[in-house]
Amino acid sequence: MPQLLSLSRAARLVGTSRVALQLKIRSGDLPSFDGMVTTADLLRLYPDIRIEEDGGFEQVMQIKAHAFGKRVRERMLPSQEILSQRLFEQSTELADLRAHLQSYHAMFERLRAHMDTLAERATPSAREAIWALEAQFDQELGSVLGTAAADAVSVMDDMLRVMSAHVTLRPSNHDFFVEGNDTLLEAALGAGLAVNYGCSNGNCGLCKARVISGQVQKVRPHDYVFSEAEKNQGYTLLCAHAAVGDLVLELLETGSADDIPQQQIVTRIKAISALGDEVRLLHLQSPRNNRLRFLAGQSVTLTAGEASAQLPIASCPCDDRNLHFHIVRDANDDFARQVFEVLGTGDAVTVFGPWGNFVLRTDSPRPILFVAGDAGFAPIKGLIEHALSLDTAELLHLYWQASAPSGHYLANLCRSWVEALDNFRYTALVDVGADGLVECMVKDHADLTAFDLYLAGSGAFVGAATKALAQQGFPPSQLLATVT
Ligand code: FES
Repeated sequence: MPQLLSLSRAARLVGTSRVALQLKIRSGDLPSFDGMVTTADLLRLYPDIRIEEDGGFEQVMQIKAHAFGKRVRERMLPSQEILSQRLFEQSTELADLRAHLQSYHAMFERLRAHMDTLAERATPSAREAIWALEAQFDQELGSVLGTAAADAVSVMDDMLRVMSAHVTLRPSNHDFFVEGNDTLLEAALGAGLAVNYGCSNGNCGLCKARVISGQVQKVRPHDYVFSEAEKNQGYTLLCAHAAVGDLVLELLETGSADDIPQQQIVTRIKAISALGDEVRLLHLQSPRNNRLRFLAGQSVTLTAGEASAQLPIASCPCDDRNLHFHIVRDANDDFARQVFEVLGTGDAVTVFGPWGNFVLRTDSPRPILFVAGDAGFAPIKGLIEHALSLDTAELLHLYWQASAPSGHYLANLCRSWVEALDNFRYTALVDVGADGLVECMVKDHADLTAFDLYLAGSGAFVGAATKALAQQGFPPSQLLATVT
């Protein structure tokens, strides 16, 4: 019998995005029942799903690997305790189902015996009617048993329930999956959700959430002590617990950049690598017990020795403890000189911030245009990674205007997004000016006003592009810009 699945679960199983399924629902190709879809309809639309090839999982992992560059997240099994609890729950469910089936079977046998007895004592015409009824019983039972075999999607869904747990947040209805040994906090941030947290190591209590249904398991030690009232109400700490099975939590999510306190964290340089001749990728890692809380697109102040600079973060909080920055060669910039000539792996860099309101409007239903000028790509990259993690935008189109042909210093990453995602487009432009840029956008999208637009680059670039967009009648309320 076909099962009902949530869109998130269905998208994972067939290896596509939630947005792609939403489009199919809107076009009428995929029937939905209160936002759920059946395994039978999924199989009809995606007949090539093969359990043995694990196609869905593989494609999802490929998208993640492409979306987050070189670092492929390892697919790890959950801890033994969680795994055994999940298997125990599935075995219990199976045993319940078996008991139900056995009682139904016994009931059918009793009914049949009773009808046989009635037929023996009945008049010829009544006997005919009883036999007809018995034949219909057999036919109905045969057709049920004939279609009772589990379909591929249902079997994969059972596997998915062992490998990961699905978590729904109230009141937002946001959802995410917890995999491997991730805590609830790590999994929520990885899914691009801005949940409340502070220390990330079990001390402050800011990541508290109330368990509405389901079960959690402590996977990290914590010093925070719950009050009796909190215990009775079922509170848990996201940074110290994982989900045993599917879970519903009630918690606060960050509404805006203003909700995030300023922090000072000493990070270490994980790597400095060349992105072409003129740009370096500065990869910092925050301590395991003190990750930076920020929203994608924000900036921080970096200090190394005597040199400091305010720079946009080129990664998103969904990227674990990693903080990326794109440093442009500049002989007059002390911090850039340090990065190009002095600093190396393991050196300390102090991070202070975050700053700014250049963040994704997660409540907007509109598709998104990202426009970057040269190294203005840094905060745009953070926003794109955030949007990809959320998987809610129907279309994401990146326009990257560079002053020189070598200026698209992460063009391969942009192309990998295009390859991995149906809803991502990339246009590289070289020095076409603001009018040329907007002309190109209008050619691609006749109605620009249907989009939200995020713009980042030098003051001159942002100023000229804003003016050109205004001349096209682009609504200022749908434009968010930052100068890098
Ligand atoms: S973030 Fe501080 S206790 Fe979880």
